[in-house]
Amino acid sequence: MKILHLDSSILGEASASRTLSAAVVEELRTLHPSAQVSVRDLAQTPIAHLDGAIAAGFRSPGVVSDDAAMRVEHALSETLVSELLDSDVIVLGVPMYNFSVPSQLKAWLDRVAQPGRTFRYTDTGPIGLSGDKAVIVASTRGGMYSSGPAEVMDHQESYLKAFFGFLGIQRVRFVRAELLTKGAELRSKSMREALAHIPATVAGLFPN
Ligand SMILES: Cc1cc2nc3c(=O)[nH]c(=O)nc-3n(C[C@H](O)[C@H](O)[C@H](O)COP(=O)(O)O)c2cc1C
Repeated sequence: MKILHLDSSILGEASASRTLSAAVVEELRTLHPSAQVSVRDLAQTPIAHLDGAIAAGFRSPGVVSDDAAMRVEHALSETLVSELLDSDVIVLGVPMYNFSVPSQLKAWLDRVAQPGRTFRYTDTGPIGLSGDKAVIVASTRGGMYSSGPAEVMDHQESYLKAFFGFLGIQRVRFVRAELLTKGAELRSKSMREALAHIPATVAGLFPN
């Protein structure tokens, strides 16, 4: 089993989503001791946001830049999409920032949505090409979005589910901690419950 572990919180060691994503990877390793883990810290080592020149490297096949720095960016796009395609399970640590995902994660998503590699358009609509893999998102929020009036403002989990579904990945699961900025008691209860939820989530994805 190949695990791709990505974190995106800007809060370093204090990050709740990092605690949860690390616990998910630990659980996977317990169940699959020979698993290989590749790690990318998208906050510590940010990926440059997409621009026209970077996108041309994979959206217009055959474009070879005569700029050395741009060739490095094009090679990085290829590395990132290969890492995704090569993985069996992707574990993401994702805090909600301004109702969506951290821009550092968006930069990664923009690099791996590659026509002809992870999806393609057909006469009958788009087809995902990313194969049979699973995604586990360690999702953290300051408020409450899984139910109640703010549910419609969740553009974090709903976006990730739609994005990976578009790439052909239907097995997307969430380990969620909410109300993290509403006092120490609620925070520790929410984290405790999210951590307790991990074994069942992982076992449910890989029943054998
Ligand atoms: C820049 C920024 C934006 C945030 N935006 C939201 C938000 O829109 N809704 C929310 O419920 N919490 C928001 N929060 C709170 C975080 O989602 C919450 O603290 C979460 O625990 C962060 O996860 P982390 O500890 O892994 O960084 C925001 C926090 C930061 C730093």
